[in-house]
Amino acid sequence: MKNNTIIIIFILFGIIQLNAQKLIHVETKSTSLVFSVQDSKLKQAYFGTKLSQLDDLTKNGTIIFDAYSTFGTNEVNDIALQATHADGNTSTEIVFEDVNVVKEEDNNITKTTIRLKDDYYNFQVDLIFKAYYNEDMIEQWTEIIHEEKESVTLYNYASSQLSFNASSYWLTQLWGELENEMNLKETELTQGIKIIDSKLGARAAKFATPSFFLSLNEPSNENSGEIIGASLAWPGSFKLGFEIDNYQDLRVLTGINPFASQYILEKGEKFKTPSLIYSYSNKGRGELSRNFHKWGRKYGIKGGDEPRLTLLNNWEATYFDFNEKKITEIIKDAASLDLELFLLDDGWFGNKYPRNNDAAGLGDWQVNKLKLPNGIGHLVEEATKEGIKFGIWVEPEMVNPKSELYEAHPDWVIGQPHREIIYRRNQLILDLSNPKVQEFVFNSVNDLLVKNPGIAYVKWDCNRFIQNGGSPYLDTDKQSHVQIEYANGILKVLEKIATVHPKIQMMLCSGGGGRMEYGSLKYFNEFWPSDNTDARQRVLIQWGSSMFFPALATCNHVSDVPNNQTGRSTPLKFRFDVAMMGKFGMDLQPSHMDEDEFNFSKKAVSIFKSIRDVIYYGDLYRLESPYESNRVSLMYVEKEKKKAVLFVYQIHYHMREFFQDLKLEGLDPEKKYRITEINLKDGIKSRLSSNNKVISGEILLKSGIKFPNKLREYESLVIELTEEK
Ligand code: DGJ
Repeated sequence: MKNNTIIIIFILFGIIQLNAQKLIHVETKSTSLVFSVQDSKLKQAYFGTKLSQLDDLTKNGTIIFDAYSTFGTNEVNDIALQATHADGNTSTEIVFEDVNVVKEEDNNITKTTIRLKDDYYNFQVDLIFKAYYNEDMIEQWTEIIHEEKESVTLYNYASSQLSFNASSYWLTQLWGELENEMNLKETELTQGIKIIDSKLGARAAKFATPSFFLSLNEPSNENSGEIIGASLAWPGSFKLGFEIDNYQDLRVLTGINPFASQYILEKGEKFKTPSLIYSYSNKGRGELSRNFHKWGRKYGIKGGDEPRLTLLNNWEATYFDFNEKKITEIIKDAASLDLELFLLDDGWFGNKYPRNNDAAGLGDWQVNKLKLPNGIGHLVEEATKEGIKFGIWVEPEMVNPKSELYEAHPDWVIGQPHREIIYRRNQLILDLSNPKVQEFVFNSVNDLLVKNPGIAYVKWDCNRFIQNGGSPYLDTDKQSHVQIEYANGILKVLEKIATVHPKIQMMLCSGGGGRMEYGSLKYFNEFWPSDNTDARQRVLIQWGSSMFFPALATCNHVSDVPNNQTGRSTPLKFRFDVAMMGKFGMDLQPSHMDEDEFNFSKKAVSIFKSIRDVIYYGDLYRLESPYESNRVSLMYVEKEKKKAVLFVYQIHYHMREFFQDLKLEGLDPEKKYRITEINLKDGIKSRLSSNNKVISGEILLKSGIKFPNKLREYESLVIELTEEK
């Protein structure tokens, strides 16, 4: 907690005296989440648009929604908590004990802890809510502790339970795979249970992201309707459960996936669940995303409001095939494009087992002397000479069996005895439940940074998930803890790195977007959403990631054509325009460009720099969705509404389609804006009839902006709107 944080503590022994009706109000600027205590049981009385007064809330009769349901005597639905007590009793009955409210961070954050206790056993459950007032976000988690004679086994331990009463429920999930991340799919929930989960342990979001929208009464809309957005901050296996009961009410349970992960909780030990971060809006998906972006920048992401560096990554340019000469040349090229950082990817390490492909070297974090005889320090110097910064790739959670690390510590990997070893990308996963392994992982990265103080940036990769999930370190009766301890282990290491090296910018990567979640992002400035760099596909991937993650954290790179993943060729301008909608970078060999391409690229980099503050810190308005239209558009509007940037992409040309004028959003109707199409190729004139004209915000919002009546496939526009007095 910061020293200057103002803390006002209202400890209320017993029930909060806000009212005589035993109500607890978790509130943000526009939202109320209200709990009531009814016959000693904690109930969720309300969640929705802000209530100005709560007095009459309970006059409607009995509140049926449990705040945190337990497996015990009368539950017929899925439960938040299931525990077997020290004496073998499988039921838990928790009653309200007290509530404690703390204000922090200049009063913007209110932390409410509701203490519940078993009415017989010395077993305590704290439900904790952090309300971020201005961002309209709530963070919720649970802490479980007991003082029973022996250990207690936890079988279910949700982070949160939320209940809803609506005529219908529409769930939007984010699903994917390598090179195909962040697909949006909305379905109506029906009676029974819908589960979105991961059992992967590491790289846990490879197939599904632990984030969702839940729209009430109707399918979700961008600008209207009651909707909840939620994201579980946890790099491990997760479970999001949605159950409609026989009364047509919906119970949403979220948290660590308890599948094969029962947890033996020792006397006095605290079990802390990850946080669910959520927000409610009655104005649709767009507002929710903006809430997430604001919260992410201020609280959720490392250095969320700090500038980012445009970069050149050599992965697609060289893969493993490079040497000092090649890299030095690419560094020079990056500098001559006016990029700000060069990022050296996989393949720089391993000597006995050189990392020349993905079959060897992982774990041996010493520079490969054949490829880079003068070491990383020399490359850092080369970059510094060119006036740019240097970054480096690591994957320190993993090991190739062909490595000195594995030879020395075969007992440091996750696996089950007497079972065949399962490889993925020829690698095994280190057992991060083991503190010695945690220390090794920390030291691998720390040594690199200490020996090469010029390194400014680290790309942290993770290319496999847990299979054969046994830990040589954990006791035999605690083998089911392996996934939870792995996730806690990695978070511990990341926390230490962030504490010791606060200035190093970090990119979160997991074979593309296999780790897009807020538990890790606390320690990362940005993330790599996908190895698929085809600009056409990237429109969809970046669209999906914009639902929960801000533009400044989403790394978008321009790569070569035909694209390495899809074989598609798109124009260089289209590739630039697509990459510009977030944190811009490049992933190609600049020396392969002809003069025109190079000049265009250099100019585009400087254009990006001139508009990046609007993109990084502005409010996002999604206008035309790639799921509904071949013309896709979105815009960012600066806080004071003096500047905006509009992106338009024709992602497919289907016969002769007619598009309507595009009504903009987020502008000030009272202001006037000059419209300027930017990032045009030299000698090409804008086809926009409004180019260089000054138009009122009101007209742009209500009547819209006209586009050439035919945009060709992969034609794109970047339009700057600047207030003109
Ligand atoms: C997977 C990442 O997503 C790529 O960007 C690249 O870093 C490779 N790993 C390197 O092995």
